[in-house]
Amino acid sequence: MSQESYTPGHTENATDFMLQRSFESHGRFFASHLEESHAVLDVGCGPGSISLGIAEAVPAGRVQGIDFGESQIEVARRNAKHAGINNVEFTQASCYELPFESNSFDRVFCHALMEHLSEPVDALNEFSRVLRPGGIVGVCSPDFDGTLLAPSSPDVTNAINKYATLQKSNGGNLRIGKKLGDYLIAAGFCDVSLSARYECYPSVDFISEYLAKQLDLARMPEHATSIRKWSNSPASMFAQCWVSATGMKS
Ligand SMILES: C[S@@+](CC[C@H](N)C(=O)[O-])C[C@H]1O[C@@H](n2cnc3c(N)ncnc32)[C@H](O)[C@@H]1O
Repeated sequence: MSQESYTPGHTENATDFMLQRSFESHGRFFASHLEESHAVLDVGCGPGSISLGIAEAVPAGRVQGIDFGESQIEVARRNAKHAGINNVEFTQASCYELPFESNSFDRVFCHALMEHLSEPVDALNEFSRVLRPGGIVGVCSPDFDGTLLAPSSPDVTNAINKYATLQKSNGGNLRIGKKLGDYLIAAGFCDVSLSARYECYPSVDFISEYLAKQLDLARMPEHATSIRKWSNSPASMFAQCWVSATGMKS
């Protein structure tokens, strides 16, 4: 595998950022594919806020979340216990080597992971292995070519491009959205279907600080400052384009 490193890391800031998500807000594209008794794998589940919503959508089934971040698995387990949701389990594992038998899941869901992977098709092949024939995969990732920033500013555009370059140097691709369909086909999935939506962050400060912190850590403080300055504008908007793709294992 080529060099791969997870750009956001597992800081409190990054974990809090992921915890804002729910199945309702970020997984809706997959809702119509779920039946109440399904066994669902959530790959790269992070702190598990989306997994908990999936578990509620399959009350007679089960959800297995996996993530390579130990701290994420701990948070996910704690939150499941706190919410009293019992049909969900969290396990530390790599998406390239899933510790499950072949054909053991009805559905595989994967939100905001593919853009961090250097070998996304290898991961999709592994998803296919654990899916039963006729099972459906759903993946969703951003495409920064669709990002809309207001007010527009060359400095902030430059800073966002630097962030995308940083993620690329870590093996990922923040412009992967438009490639998801091709990657599903390369991994042998059929009936591939794509869709896209915008997420308009309710607080520009939150997304700006998330990106700026990582630019600081990567020793690009001037770009971190550009983002922070831009976010102070009273009429700012950060609209992110998410592409979702589904496919069936034949
Ligand atoms: C951006 S977060 C998304 C979390 C959650 N799915 C969500 O959308 O809120 C990506 C997650 O993928 C995990 N991850 C990154 N690379 C991974 C790999 N190779 N195998 C397993 N998990 C990985 C990270 O630890 C992180 O928790």
